[in-house]
Amino acid sequence: MFDKINAWKPKGKCAFKKRQVIYGLVVYRGDGITLRIAIIGCGVVGQGFMKILRDKKDFLKNNFGFDAKVVAISDKFKGSIFVDEGIDLDGLLAHMEQTGKVDGFTAPGAITGLDPIETIRRSNADIIAEASFTDIKTGEPATSHVREALGTGKHVITTNKGPVALFQRELDALAKQNKVQFRYEGAVMSGTPIFNLMEFCLAGNDVVEVKGILNGTTNFILTKMEEDDMAYEDALALAQKLGYAEADPTGDVEGYDALAKVMQLSNIALGGNLKEEDIEREGITGITSEMIKAAAAEGMRYKLIGSTRKEGGKIIAYVKPIKLPLSDPLAGVGGAINALTFSCDLSGDVTIQGPGAGQMETGFALLIDILAINRAINCC
Ligand code: HSE
Repeated sequence: MFDKINAWKPKGKCAFKKRQVIYGLVVYRGDGITLRIAIIGCGVVGQGFMKILRDKKDFLKNNFGFDAKVVAISDKFKGSIFVDEGIDLDGLLAHMEQTGKVDGFTAPGAITGLDPIETIRRSNADIIAEASFTDIKTGEPATSHVREALGTGKHVITTNKGPVALFQRELDALAKQNKVQFRYEGAVMSGTPIFNLMEFCLAGNDVVEVKGILNGTTNFILTKMEEDDMAYEDALALAQKLGYAEADPTGDVEGYDALAKVMQLSNIALGGNLKEEDIEREGITGITSEMIKAAAAEGMRYKLIGSTRKEGGKIIAYVKPIKLPLSDPLAGVGGAINALTFSCDLSGDVTIQGPGAGQMETGFALLIDILAINRAINCC
């Protein structure tokens, strides 16, 4: 991951005209470039990303010098559209609001009926935004989308945990081989920047441990059980209603979602090669209201902690509920919020906390990745 930008070489000439520094901000003026994007998967995240690109179009052009143009969208269940001149996002979002589908939306020159793989192959996109559903057991169909895109010389940005947790090494190598970027800021903690933090700001450190709260649903449930004396089932139902939980909440409450994130951190931050079976896992289903009350009485609080650390030449990783003293920074993180502490040899412990889910937050993670690709282009 850390040599992505060096490995990647732009295909064409940089089209920027002028670079100016205004009030300390680097501002690009001139014709700029067009980044053509195809979105694969048009659920909550895909639509959030479309809203951001619609609402920030002028901002991105004026401040970063590029025109982000969505040329194709393909969703296995909602349908597809490809318009090589770019799709009217406002019109499409209104159409989706009414019908729940991409199908049925038309535009001059539109090609419809392409499945995700055909869309990746046939559209004129430079960047594929992979936002299809997550299957953490197989990583499919997302991994096939990512392989197809990287293999045909397109940059990939994704918030999908499956391909990153299971196949990050292979996919990073494929990206390098094809001189394109594979970026996945939103795969852990959505738009709260973890991978960019490591790649840019914490670079130069030896990271010896990464530890934190990596699942919003379980943190929300534990908080509600303690603060509002809510029953576990009611707190889970509320988390589902608020859209924090996975389609099958077993992934959240039994710790599989957090495990997928710990696996990514082990392999990317600590350079390991851990598989699911290498990581100890326990969810929160064994934590009762009585245990939470007893912990509170001794000034402690249960949190579902994910941790990965270097120890004696090995990487030890786990996900399990831990009783923390209230003085621990992670004990104070309530609700659906996530937090992560990086223990580094030079900078010491650096903790970041923020949303770990949400439509605009996760859509923002894709924007972070687009901006990183644009920065790489600008370095040419
Ligand atoms: N279900 C996940 C959570 C969503 O609760 O954190 C983000 O991976």
